[in-house]
Amino acid sequence: MEDSTSIGKRIKIENEILFYVREALSVAIRAPLAHETAIEWLERAQFLVGSFSRHVRRLFAIEEEGGYMDFVTALKPTFANRAAKLREEHRSLVSDLEGIRADAHNTNPSNLANLHSLQQRLLGFFRRLESHRHHEWELLQETYLVDLGGEG
Ligand SMILES: [Fe+2]
Repeated sequence: MEDSTSIGKRIKIENEILFYVREALSVAIRAPLAHETAIEWLERAQFLVGSFSRHVRRLFAIEEEGGYMDFVTALKPTFANRAAKLREEHRSLVSDLEGIRADAHNTNPSNLANLHSLQQRLLGFFRRLESHRHHEWELLQETYLVDLGGEG
């Protein structure tokens, strides 16, 4: 198992990369969407959803494989359920994102309703991912701050 500082640095880098890939995807899907722009809109979305999906999987893998979840459980066994719930959210988020990615590649650009639906699903996914990361951050804060605080 890597030490927590090394894992923390890797997670920080992956989070920064993911932030920019998400921003790029966000710019792409908020671009004007009409019949005359649909093909280009969909091509951008397909390309960037693929990249976004790979980065999400990579971040989750680092978090799980000898990552912070093991440290949290080792330092604070009472937080094991919260760490397990976050791990379960990884499964659910990856599965949902894979569904969106597959639909983006199977949809017809002439169907604007489907493209709008794709846009809304991605925006919803961004919110869920943000909520997940917020809960993770809270768990890490509580684990390490309480630990560093020495509790008296
Ligand atoms: Fe996570």
